[in-house]
Amino acid sequence: MNVLPFSIGDDLQKTLTELALECPLFDPTFDPEIRLAEERFGDFQANGILSYCKRNQQDPRAAAQRLCDALGANNPSFQVTVAGAGFLNVTLTDSAMLAWLQRFHTEASYEGQLSSVFSGKTVVVDYSSPNTAKRMHVGHLRSMVIGEALQRLIRFSGGKVIRDNHLGDWGTQFGILLMEIKAEKYDFQGTPEVVMERIEQWYQQGVQKAKTDPQALEAARRELVCLQQGDATNVSLWKRINQISYESFEAIYQRMGVAFDFVLGESFYRDQLPAVYESLQACGLAALDQGALVVFHPEHPRFCKQPFLIRKSDGASNYASTDLATARYRAEHFQADAILYVTDARQCDHFEQLFLTVQKWFAAEKRPIPALYHAPFGMVLDGSGKAIKTREGKPVLLQQLLDEAVARAYALIAQKSPDLSEEEKRQVAEVVGCGAIQYADLSQDRTSNYRFEFDKMIRFEGNTAPYLLYAVARIYAIFRKASIEHATYDFSAVRSLSSFSTQTERSLAHKLLDFPMILSLSLKELKPHHLCRYLYELAGSFSTFYNADKVMVDKAAIRDLRLLLCQATLSTLETGLHLLGLRTLKKM
Ligand code: ARG
Repeated sequence: MNVLPFSIGDDLQKTLTELALECPLFDPTFDPEIRLAEERFGDFQANGILSYCKRNQQDPRAAAQRLCDALGANNPSFQVTVAGAGFLNVTLTDSAMLAWLQRFHTEASYEGQLSSVFSGKTVVVDYSSPNTAKRMHVGHLRSMVIGEALQRLIRFSGGKVIRDNHLGDWGTQFGILLMEIKAEKYDFQGTPEVVMERIEQWYQQGVQKAKTDPQALEAARRELVCLQQGDATNVSLWKRINQISYESFEAIYQRMGVAFDFVLGESFYRDQLPAVYESLQACGLAALDQGALVVFHPEHPRFCKQPFLIRKSDGASNYASTDLATARYRAEHFQADAILYVTDARQCDHFEQLFLTVQKWFAAEKRPIPALYHAPFGMVLDGSGKAIKTREGKPVLLQQLLDEAVARAYALIAQKSPDLSEEEKRQVAEVVGCGAIQYADLSQDRTSNYRFEFDKMIRFEGNTAPYLLYAVARIYAIFRKASIEHATYDFSAVRSLSSFSTQTERSLAHKLLDFPMILSLSLKELKPHHLCRYLYELAGSFSTFYNADKVMVDKAAIRDLRLLLCQATLSTLETGLHLLGLRTLKKM
């Protein structure tokens, strides 16, 4: 490793794994477990030797020494030592760290540097995917926000991402809705917001009627059958509702910086369903069970008895039918190497059954099997830990949630930066308010439930978007004050240095080394909260540095080194926030 790569930690991980394979003490189960080290121990640390040796009843210190000798040989960039009961510590030389900083301190310089299982692969990311005929509410937040961050991370690591919004646009809600709309001769005048509100009311009225009046229920059923059989009036009303629904979704997507390559809802697959049923039966996977078509998985402890229902006994399709057709379409049409689904955790069984079925089905048909991933997430709760609702017990609309966040951000900004113009305050508040909601969601481990609390997410203290956005703006201000154009500044004076001049400089550089490894970890686990935590800690390391070391000192080399550290921190924070889906601000 003469020229240090972007991800030194991942590179050490790979090198140590390879070196271990050449050494008779290790077998392929060995994982060096490289992590950023606590600074007093060095820069990186291999933690995996101890547990490996325990498992295999070997002397960990002897094993560590073997790897130490192999790794340490001919390496001008770092020093390797054995520590404690069998750890390896790797300490970079100051000049190697300085060279790394000079190479990697802009967003552009990171491009194409990170690899993951997705590099070079076609990856369909299925996220947001709300059901139509309803406005988006708080329950729709997580798939959109987490999916957006994950697709950005995958793309950053060289994945060819296809963003697909798999709308629920073919559900039973349309029977009731069409019955009500036709009975009362409603029209669709007004803005999408207004019409959507009305559509929701019609639906509620229809539900009430169907509950009390068997004739209405029957009418709703007839309307649904008509729609599914292609009746022109019903199809055109259905299209109209979907179109207005999507306009209302887009207003949110725009505010959140979310966009899709394809919007192929459930209805897109409706003509492909008969072929799916037939093919699954032909390869012996699906069978009739009391009139319904089902798939069992005999090898599975639960799904040997719990069927995967793929066609109802009345012949109607369901969520599973369209998902099977969708998987096949994505494999064939997009040549997907991988498909990632981002939904709430209640759908875990569905996806486990879907994946098992798809794997067996594709194997039987001798087609390539894409890697299938499900990234489930927990619920959004209110401050007291209950499912979040309005005072009337209705779901909280996303548009209202964003408006309130932006209003609160405005108040915060007006107080902190009274000198901004009115226009600037409004723009900053939009970025900070929407970002705060995104970030509060992403900073939690996605698998747990979290409490939605405005007071905690819209403030400048703690692991929040306002704190991080402010850290970014502050670094921009440093460059502005010094009249330096950070993007084109020539940091070459740093080349004359062979060491850091203070410990705080080195500590910040040490923290910066972790960024690529954190991105790898977030990708490996499909969990953006690792990145959030890291950015928060990095902003803290920067503050410590900035409070201790004056940047604009007389000595050019030291000044440029400190400016370089500012620049590297800035681009790390900005890249990280952009990967999470947030916008950043030069001034706030
Ligand atoms: N429409 C579904 C929902 O609202 C999510 C769809 C997720 N994607 C999929 N291919 N099943 O929960």
